[in-house]
Amino acid sequence: MSLRVLVLAAGRGTRMRSELPKVLFPVAGRTLLAWVLDAVAGLSPDETVVVVGHGADRVAETLPAGVRPVVQEPQLGTGHAAMAALESLGEVAGDTILVVPGDTPLLRPETLRSLVEGLPGAAAALLTTRMADPAGYGRVCREGGRVVGIVEDRDATAEQRAITEVAVSTYAFEGAALGGALAGLAPDNDQGEYYLTDAVGLLAASGTVRGVPVTDPAEVQGINSHGQLAQVAAEVRRRINAAWMEAGVWMLDPDRVYLEAAVSLEAGVCLYPEVHLEGTTRVGAGAVVGPQVFAADSSIGPEARVWYSVLRGAEVGEGAQVGPFASLRPGTRLAAGAKAGTFVETKNTVVGRGSKVPHLSYLGDATIGEDSNIGAGTITCNYDGREKHRTVIGDRVFIGSDTMLVAPVEIGDDAYTGAGSVITRDVPPGALAVERSPQQEVPGYAAKRARRTQEKG
Ligand code: UD1
Ligand code: CA
Repeated sequence: MSLRVLVLAAGRGTRMRSELPKVLFPVAGRTLLAWVLDAVAGLSPDETVVVVGHGADRVAETLPAGVRPVVQEPQLGTGHAAMAALESLGEVAGDTILVVPGDTPLLRPETLRSLVEGLPGAAAALLTTRMADPAGYGRVCREGGRVVGIVEDRDATAEQRAITEVAVSTYAFEGAALGGALAGLAPDNDQGEYYLTDAVGLLAASGTVRGVPVTDPAEVQGINSHGQLAQVAAEVRRRINAAWMEAGVWMLDPDRVYLEAAVSLEAGVCLYPEVHLEGTTRVGAGAVVGPQVFAADSSIGPEARVWYSVLRGAEVGEGAQVGPFASLRPGTRLAAGAKAGTFVETKNTVVGRGSKVPHLSYLGDATIGEDSNIGAGTITCNYDGREKHRTVIGDRVFIGSDTMLVAPVEIGDDAYTGAGSVITRDVPPGALAVERSPQQEVPGYAAKRARRTQEKG
């Protein structure tokens, strides 16, 4: 006896009003479908197939190894989707077929397990829950407590609409029973579709169908609209943040911290409000991040301080300081104790241990050694309109304010540049390079000017 899983993901998601297939919308950096497949993987099934249709190629592309797509074309309803999947499975008599919708990302593996455990001795088992507002869901019809069928909202009578127990498209079927029931489906409903829900009624007519209740309706919340997507995203955020706080992360206001699923944090990290950490971003112990930080695929070392800044593919070393208002672009590496301060942009640039770029600079394609200071307003002119060139700055260098470093150029260890210089040639170690026209003074200028104005008037 095998466990086979069918994930239904061919639907259009009409109410999202988007070209993106519904199951590919992200929640905390992973698609709805990825969350579902993760929960399913918790049961170690023998086989998992995903029914794809709308945007089939795009959805199939995202499937992990070992999960097989089955195309449903055209999409004639959830029952039709199950038929397409079942056809691709071969002999399934005696197997358990678990059917899960691709748009229910909060489902937990334990719940799916309890559903599968509810099957033996029955033809089918289905998850049900009670919803304060069941509009749009299929209602579970019972007679004398027994499940006898599911009626879709749009096909229901006023009396049936008053039922608050709903079906959530999550079922376990005995393989042969499912095959038989699907063969008996007819598209005789308001939408002219083959409804998987009707299979429940057919099986209940000759056998047993068990309802397996889920106490928290949020767990089985499907996503049909942007409103529901936002609700589920908020719940995922609460779960992620609660888990990190449990692990020792300090959040000043967890409702305003946005962490994607693959982010990792050490105990002792402090997060201020409006922090968005995405992709594979990591933060080390004692780092203080925020307010207002967006970091994607970046690492922030222990004891670092980062605020009001954007980091993409950047590495911030231990005790380094970033911001306020810094933009660290891909390939930026700040070594331990380095600083990228106010209105500083870096790209493909290494700032060595203890070196500081405190104010108003652009550093692109640059390497800076240790304990150097880059004066306010310094810019690497790395682009000549066709190609990018490198700037290399040594250790203990003092770059004067408003220096233009026209790359390719190299500034040796212990060298200085004068404020306002446009540096176009390499500067040897220990030298001072000044490039500036001599200053002139006109004595008594103000008085002369005042006199001229008076004469004219
Ligand atoms: C379905 C159920 C309803 C249940 C509700 C919420 C039916 C007829 N109704 O309605 O009882 O309360 O979900 O769980 O089953 N899909 C396909 N191929 C298709 C159509 C849909 O793969 O041809 C997939 C969708 O991608 C989605 C899932 O099936 O993942 C459910 O489809 P959806 O259109 O959202 O069904 P609902 O109208 O919400
Ligand atoms: Ca749905």
